[in-house]
Amino acid sequence: MQTFQSLLAKKLSDALRAAGLPAAAGELTPASDPRFGDYQTNAALVLAKQRGENPRVLAAKIVAQIEAGDLCESPAVAGAGFINFTLRPGAVAEKTMELSRGGRLGVAEVKSSRRIVIDFGSPNVAKPMHVGHIRSTVLGDALARIAQFLGHEVIRDNHLGDWGTQFGMVIYGWKNLLDRQALQRNLLAEIVRIYKETNQQAASDPKIREACRQELIKLQADDRENVDIWKQCVAFSMQDFERVYKLLDVHYDLQCGESFYHDRLPDVVERLLKSGVGEISEGAVVVFFRDNPELADKPLIVRKRDGGFNYATTDLATVDYRINDLKADAIWYVVGAPQILHFRQIFDIARREGYTADLRHITFGSILGEDRKLMKTRSGENVPLRDLLEEACKRARKIIEEKNPHLSEDEKTDIAQKIGIGAVKYADLSQYRMTDYVFSWDKMLSLQGNTAPYLQNAYVRIRSIFRKAGESAIATPLWDVDTQADHEETGHRPVATTLTLADSAEINLAKRMCQFAEIVPQVLNDFRPNILANYLFEVANSFHTFYEACPVLKSEEPARSSRLILCDLAARVLKQGLDLLGIKVPEKM
Ligand code: ARG
Repeated sequence: MQTFQSLLAKKLSDALRAAGLPAAAGELTPASDPRFGDYQTNAALVLAKQRGENPRVLAAKIVAQIEAGDLCESPAVAGAGFINFTLRPGAVAEKTMELSRGGRLGVAEVKSSRRIVIDFGSPNVAKPMHVGHIRSTVLGDALARIAQFLGHEVIRDNHLGDWGTQFGMVIYGWKNLLDRQALQRNLLAEIVRIYKETNQQAASDPKIREACRQELIKLQADDRENVDIWKQCVAFSMQDFERVYKLLDVHYDLQCGESFYHDRLPDVVERLLKSGVGEISEGAVVVFFRDNPELADKPLIVRKRDGGFNYATTDLATVDYRINDLKADAIWYVVGAPQILHFRQIFDIARREGYTADLRHITFGSILGEDRKLMKTRSGENVPLRDLLEEACKRARKIIEEKNPHLSEDEKTDIAQKIGIGAVKYADLSQYRMTDYVFSWDKMLSLQGNTAPYLQNAYVRIRSIFRKAGESAIATPLWDVDTQADHEETGHRPVATTLTLADSAEINLAKRMCQFAEIVPQVLNDFRPNILANYLFEVANSFHTFYEACPVLKSEEPARSSRLILCDLAARVLKQGLDLLGIKVPEKM
C-alpha cells in the first residue's frame, strides 16, 4: 500500500519534471501546522536558492504542473514559497478503508531485508541488573520489534558480562566469605555481597588483592574448582535476569556472553599482528589510530603485557563472529554513552580489517531520580531492576482497585502487570533516547498526559464500545490481529460498508490512522521509538476529540458503521503501535 506521503511525493516529482526542474528537489513532509494543510514541500525554496530565482514564482510554476486528481485540493503556495497539500475527504475515506482491510495497517515491508544483530541489555554477571539497564533493554527490544515488523531478519543477542577480572574477587569471596544460608534465601544478593565485600577488602589489603589475582589466574587456567564456582555464579545470575526478562516480556535469540569468545581471543591478536593493524609496544599488543584525528591519542591495548586480554579484545572477536558466522549485514549496539570511545575504536579497527557490515552504536542518556541526580536507592545503591518492576505492578494495581474494584483477582493481577510494566517502558521510549529523564512514578502512571496508561485507556474505551455493540457490529473480523497477516492479498477481510467522513473530527482521526505507515519506518532512521510513541499519543488525542464530537452507537447509518470502522482502526493502531514498543494492552481497566 502506498502512503499519502509517497503518493504526493510522486505527484511532486512528476510536476517538477514537467516543469523542467530536477525531480528530487527538497522534501515532502507532514505539514507543521494543520491550518496550512496536511503535507508541505520546500522544493521551490531549495531550487530557488540553487538557481537564484524567486521562490514564490518558482512555486507557482510547479503548482501549475501538479495533477492533484482526486487525491488533494489544488495545492497552495504559502509563505516564502512553500507548497501545501490538503487531502480530499474522499481520498482519506478510501485509504482508510484500504487500511481497515489489510493486516499491516498499511505498513509496507522493506524492499531489501537485512540480517541485523542487535546487542542490547547485556548485563554483568555477579552484579544485579539495575535501572541503568532498563534503557538498553527496553530500547533494544523496541528496535528489534520494529525492525522485524518492517521485514528485517533480527538476531537478538545478549552480550552478557560473564567473564573478566571481577571473577577473581567473586571466587575469593565465595571461598572465604560465603554465607550458605543467605545464598539459599537470595542467590544473587549473596553473590553481590561477597563481591562487594572482597572489593572493599582488596582496596586496602594488597595481600587480598594478590589472592584474588591468583584465583583469576586459576580460573583462566581451567582449574576445576574455580570453573565450578564461576559456573554456579553465572547460573544464579541468569536466574535473576530471566525473571526480569519474563516480567518485561523480552526474549533473546542468543546469549553469547563474553566467555563465549574466550577461546578466540589469541586468534584475534594474531590476526591483528599479521595484518599490521596491531603492533607490539612495550610488551603489549596495541592498536594505534594514527590516521584518525579523533582517536590519534587514544591507542587501544588488545593484549596486556602479562598476556591478559581486554573487554575490547572480546568485542573484536564478537564482530568477527557476528559477521562471519552469523552473516550479519548490520550490528546495532544499544549501549550507554560512556562507551562511545570504546565503540569508535572497535568500529575503526573493524573497518581496517576489512569488515564491511553496517556497525552502529545506539547510545542513550541517563535515568535520574526526582532530585535530578543519577537514580539511587536511599542508601546510595543502584536500584535493582526487579524491585523497580515489581513496585510498578504494585502501584498500578492500586490504581485499578480504585478505578474498577469489581474485577476478579486474576484480572487485576494481569492488568496491573500490563499497566505497570507498560508505564515504565513508555516513560523511557517516549523520550528522545539521548535526553536524561526524571523517573517519576506519579507521572508515568497517570491516566492523563503522554503515558502508557492514557494510551491503554483509550484502547480500553474503544473495546467497551464494541462490547456494547456486539462484536458483529461491523462485518470485519476485527480482533484477531494475529490471523490478519497476509490477508491484504487474499482479501479475506470482507468489509460491507464504505466510509463516509463528514465531521472534521472524523476526518482528522482517519488522517491520523493513515500516518501510521509513514511513522513506523521513520523510527529506524535515527533509532527513535519516541517518534512512534508521540504519534500514538496523538492518535489517542484524536480519538478522544472524535469520541466527544461524534456519537458512535447512537448515530444513524451510514455514520454508525463508518464510525465503528474508525473506532476499530484506532484500536488496532494503538494495539499494534504499543506492541512495537513492547507494551501490552488490557481489554479492561
Ligand atoms: N556488559 C556491558 C556493560 O554492562 C555491556 C556490553 C555491551 N555490548 C558489547 N558488545 N560490548 O557495560
